[in-house]
Amino acid sequence: MDVSETLSTHRSIRKFKAKPIGRDLMGQILKSAIDGSSSSGNLNSYSIILTQDPERKSTLCRMHSDQNMIEEAPLLITFCSDQHRTRLWLKERGAADSFDDLLGFLVGAFDAVIVAQSLTLAAESKGLGVCYLGTTLSNATEIASFLELPDHVYPVTSLVVGYPDESPQVRNRLPFTSLVHHETYREFDRERLLETYRQKEISGWDRYRSYPEIYNKIKDLGIDNLAQFYTSSIKYSKTYHNQTSLMLMQLLRDKGFIAETEISTEN
Ligand SMILES: Cc1cc2nc3c(=O)[nH]c(=O)nc-3n(C[C@H](O)[C@H](O)[C@H](O)COP(=O)(O)O)c2cc1C
Repeated sequence: MDVSETLSTHRSIRKFKAKPIGRDLMGQILKSAIDGSSSSGNLNSYSIILTQDPERKSTLCRMHSDQNMIEEAPLLITFCSDQHRTRLWLKERGAADSFDDLLGFLVGAFDAVIVAQSLTLAAESKGLGVCYLGTTLSNATEIASFLELPDHVYPVTSLVVGYPDESPQVRNRLPFTSLVHHETYREFDRERLLETYRQKEISGWDRYRSYPEIYNKIKDLGIDNLAQFYTSSIKYSKTYHNQTSLMLMQLLRDKGFIAETEISTEN
């Protein structure tokens, strides 16, 4: 498949065959992803951790809120922002110390996400399916400990990878004109806002209500539209966001990306 065909047929896969991914294919996909990914200063400030061992995959499955596809798929990949390796090299070569700060974390996180998306494209072009795991952030502290991540290495996202055992529909995106702005940001008036979400409010609402357990919770909580569903206790509630954000900030401190002391404003 060429690149645009791979992109236009993308859909997340959540059911996988037991079939393993051959060593050569896995090597090829990883190499393509690395070769095809820009990175800040070409420092490749990321690490890619492969989990194939079934027992370790099961443990990580629990840490990823029991998303069963992790046990089904032959491969789970955790992408980490990594300033540890670069910092070792800086020290070794007598360079000034740096990158142990928020900017260092963000630069590594962008590098990690860029290589994850390149890997997605490489894998899908070879007939494999993938699904991102947002639970990497929800349970980052446990995952970091299980993967034995040293200081200045922080898990940012994960992909399950394998041969698809389902063929879901390609999902719609928000309208092109609501995502692309020319020259300056075009603010949304009420009419344009509702038009932007009109199709999603129909398809998303139908989709979530097609799962009986979600349907029942939606009824119990008196949720009557898709927007209310998104920030309800079933999906991305404020409490979940607050608690997870606090945990992520603590992990940034623990991993050495945020100094404990106040930043001096003196020269
Ligand atoms: C950062 C990120 C985290 C995600 N986390 C999960 C997840 O934990 N579980 C899951 O089933 N899908 C997850 N997804 C997949 C999205 O639900 C999916 O991309 C979205 O619904 C659009 O569907 P599509 O990928 O099939 O086009 C995640 C996607 C992204 C980009």
